[in-house]
Amino acid sequence: MTMESAVLDEWYPVAVIEDVKPGVAYSTRLLGVPIEYRSDGARAVQATRTDTGRPCRAQLRLHTVWLSLGDPPARPFALPEFDESDRRILGAGSFAVHASGLRVIENFLDMAHFPYVHTGLLGEEPHTEVAPYRVEHEDGELFARDCRFYQPMSAASAQTGIDAHYVYRVARPFTAMLYKTSPQQPSRRDVICLFVQPVDESRCVAHTVLVYLDDATSDSGLRLFQQTIFGQDLMILSNHMPRTLPLDPAFEVPTRADAMSIAYRRWLRERGVVYGTFSAFSASGASAASSFAAH
Ligand SMILES: [Fe+2]
Repeated sequence: MTMESAVLDEWYPVAVIEDVKPGVAYSTRLLGVPIEYRSDGARAVQATRTDTGRPCRAQLRLHTVWLSLGDPPARPFALPEFDESDRRILGAGSFAVHASGLRVIENFLDMAHFPYVHTGLLGEEPHTEVAPYRVEHEDGELFARDCRFYQPMSAASAQTGIDAHYVYRVARPFTAMLYKTSPQQPSRRDVICLFVQPVDESRCVAHTVLVYLDDATSDSGLRLFQQTIFGQDLMILSNHMPRTLPLDPAFEVPTRADAMSIAYRRWLRERGVVYGTFSAFSASGASAASSFAAH
């Protein structure tokens, strides 16, 4: 199978650094290919395709081990908040999901589910309406700006409900960040990174990295909060059918709340992304379509 450059020639995460012990060999899969990697403990990492024995590109960056099977850019995307000295940076978990990584990114961009899925944390009734926000393109990336949502407990450190302000940033098809009002410093934003490893077309591992301005909550408290949120999302993600993401605008009915979802799907189409998407006309799509009909 030939894979489109928009997917092949990218960096992908395979682990957050807390989970990588120096000198230990780890096995994983990326884009359907078996990989073995190890860190030497000096902030360097080596990786090999175990199907061909060939080395593949690897780097440690943004608190994460990144690999590529293609010809990726030297520097994938900028995240200057990692260099701010008062930030707490920690991995908040890596979650295996039986869905395309594109589904996981799309779910991350969706605010409409907060009151129903993250009840009492990221939303609650009757505050269910998604206020209009701006969808913008900048330097090839996709942004949703001026997002606002009432949140009873927006983060582990929240003392009270706040009108949380969000910016969503989709830097790459499988990489998104959320810039969110910091409860302790409302003029600045906490950053939640969602780095998705496409294991194959319908399975992924979602790696989360927090870049936070919280000097009160313990590491375990910060992790527990994000793991609670993501555990709630897993319930929805594992029920999405088809597991791959349909890009045909006719497939799922859009509403105003879905503006970012529509923009994300269009952006993927324009970049030529096929891997992890649903096609009713492909052989794998046909089986997904029948499972969709039965669902
Ligand atoms: Fe969610």
